[in-house]
Amino acid sequence: KPIIHLSAECYPVAKVGGLGDVVGALPKYLQAAGLYTWVVMPWYNKPFVQQHDFEVVYSGAFYQGSRPLTITVYKEKDNVLGFGLYLIKIPGLLDRDEPYGYADESEQFIAFQHGFLHWLTETGIMPDVVHCHDHHTGLIPFLMYYGEKFASLRHVPTVATVHNGQYQGWMNWNQAILLPAFDTWRWGLLDWDGIINPLAALIKCCTVFTTVSEGYLQELMEQANGLERLFAMERAKSVGIVNGIDTTIWNPGEDTMLHRNYHITDVQSGKRANKVFLCDAYGLDAEKPLLAYIGRFAGEKGADLLPEIIENILGDERVELNIMVLGSGDPQVQSAMADLAAQYKGRLGVYIGYQEDLSHRIYAAADFLIMPSRVEPCGLNQLYSMRYGTIPIVRKTGGLRDTVPDIDEPDGYGITFINAIAADAVAAVYRALELYNDKSRMHQLQEQVMRLDFSWDKSAAKYMEIYQNITA
Ligand code: ADP
Ligand code: GLC
Repeated sequence: KPIIHLSAECYPVAKVGGLGDVVGALPKYLQAAGLYTWVVMPWYNKPFVQQHDFEVVYSGAFYQGSRPLTITVYKEKDNVLGFGLYLIKIPGLLDRDEPYGYADESEQFIAFQHGFLHWLTETGIMPDVVHCHDHHTGLIPFLMYYGEKFASLRHVPTVATVHNGQYQGWMNWNQAILLPAFDTWRWGLLDWDGIINPLAALIKCCTVFTTVSEGYLQELMEQANGLERLFAMERAKSVGIVNGIDTTIWNPGEDTMLHRNYHITDVQSGKRANKVFLCDAYGLDAEKPLLAYIGRFAGEKGADLLPEIIENILGDERVELNIMVLGSGDPQVQSAMADLAAQYKGRLGVYIGYQEDLSHRIYAAADFLIMPSRVEPCGLNQLYSMRYGTIPIVRKTGGLRDTVPDIDEPDGYGITFINAIAADAVAAVYRALELYNDKSRMHQLQEQVMRLDFSWDKSAAKYMEIYQNITA
């Protein structure tokens, strides 16, 4: 019987952020460890889908409210990702270019969840565990346990992983008509503060929930965008498990997206070659230290602080530093970054957009990577950067606090700061520049971070322990 992961994203099929990375990697490690593992996600109009062979394993139909929907489930034939990959296609709702950003997102993800359960029950597939990721799959445990059509799944245990508690998938109660019929005595399990809250329903109904770091689990009990009391109340069934990284994809020794590959033994010359290549492309000076930012321009990431941080640093002519920014999101930050790139030509490189290859090249080329996050459930960027010998500068929060001890702590290897304000971040960058000038310490730290083991092995074992406990 399969362990089924349900997610809106999975790298390399569709990735918006770290959720995609995690759902592309954890199942691979689980399958390699001997667990029969599937990932089920919406069908997207993406190159991966066009370039691989799929077979139809189910087609059928159901109603969403009064709207008739047809569903086709595709299975990728060759298991190229190292686990079973299934895509659910529903014309009009699950046949889109991107996972998010549509006005009818509620309809889209209700269809995904209803379609998934419809397929399982119509074909008699019996999972060992259903593992839900974030609010897009938040209604699943509720519907499995209280949905009229899905009684055959009532005894199947569910795991929920919270990657991001800020987004909860809120819906008005008048949208309840779109849900498959359920035991109305249980409506309170869907509700939080008078509206349908899929993330809250997920936490209430799942067998066990996990967060992507231990620190984040603690934080959610104090700050969870309205769900603090719920997380505190349900903490007895919670486990914090820090994310790993896929060390076969993120490996400077073999990464085909890099200008030059390198190992711990030639990290200085290897990073230098990548830095010269990147700096040439963006008109920067490879002789100067390079600070990078990669990520969504969102409030959680503290991206709105970037313009002020950059002004402060580059505004001082004497500061020997170049900065490279890769990201997109908040239009105000995007236009501020474009203006700054023009103003600080030759010292600031900016790419507005999403580009997987460029992200790899920046992790390899940079000396430092800054993450001024307000909220960071785990954060993968700091883990990737360390694997590429780049020292992270992070705000002490969530997974960043858990994975990056400060150089002033025993065995520490990163630069940390306390407050999500520009002044604290700028002070941290000045500390980084001092470190950069202490060549032997800098080189020693680069080797130290490359040697750290953030692979999935340890964390995947913790998920396996949960599966074992709840299926025993
Ligand atoms: P989140 O999921 O909150 O965005 P994470 O740190 O967990 O944050 O993961 C972000 C992932 O997305 C990393 O793999 C990072 O390299 C990638 N990423 C973010 N923005 C971009 C971008 N503009 N171009 C390429 N990759 C990006
Ligand atoms: C979310 C979080 C990020 C985490 C990722 C993967 O997008 O914002 O911190 O690393 O999920 O779990």
